[in-house]
Amino acid sequence: MKNKKLVIGSDHAGFEYKAKLIDYLTAKGYEMIDAGTYSADSCDYPVPVHALCKIIQSGECAEGILICGTGIGVSMAANKHRGIRAAVCSDKYSTEMTRLHNDANVLCMGARVIDFDLVCELTDIFLTTDALTEERHVRRQQMISDLEDGTFEEKYE
Ligand code: RB5
Repeated sequence: MKNKKLVIGSDHAGFEYKAKLIDYLTAKGYEMIDAGTYSADSCDYPVPVHALCKIIQSGECAEGILICGTGIGVSMAANKHRGIRAAVCSDKYSTEMTRLHNDANVLCMGARVIDFDLVCELTDIFLTTDALTEERHVRRQQMISDLEDGTFEEKYE
């Protein structure tokens, strides 16, 4: 197994899937960090998203999983964090490709969009696919970092 320690977070809409996915991944041998939310009560998804992103930024975990109703809100909030490349996925092809081409480090899924069996399948793909190292992919990922750093225009325009 590549990464033993994973961080996972959700809002209330993803709370039940988060609990089930923690059990699923723990049974596979992963050590899970739960970044919240910690009850099914309504919450503001940027809160658990920020907690999760800080754990990845600290280097404690290389990868994370976020679940909300659609996966969209959590991905938007996650992508505001430096070094986070979050991808909303609801099919196997996109999940594989976002690892291969984008080196996504956060998988976002919608509990109101896909069933739990597919959540498990996508999670397995995400956790077992490595980023391609071809120069063009690495260059494009660097360009995303340059957008974050405010150096994009001086480098490419
Ligand atoms: C909560 O109702 C819902 O808006 C949230 O889970 C998410 O889907 C937002 O993008």
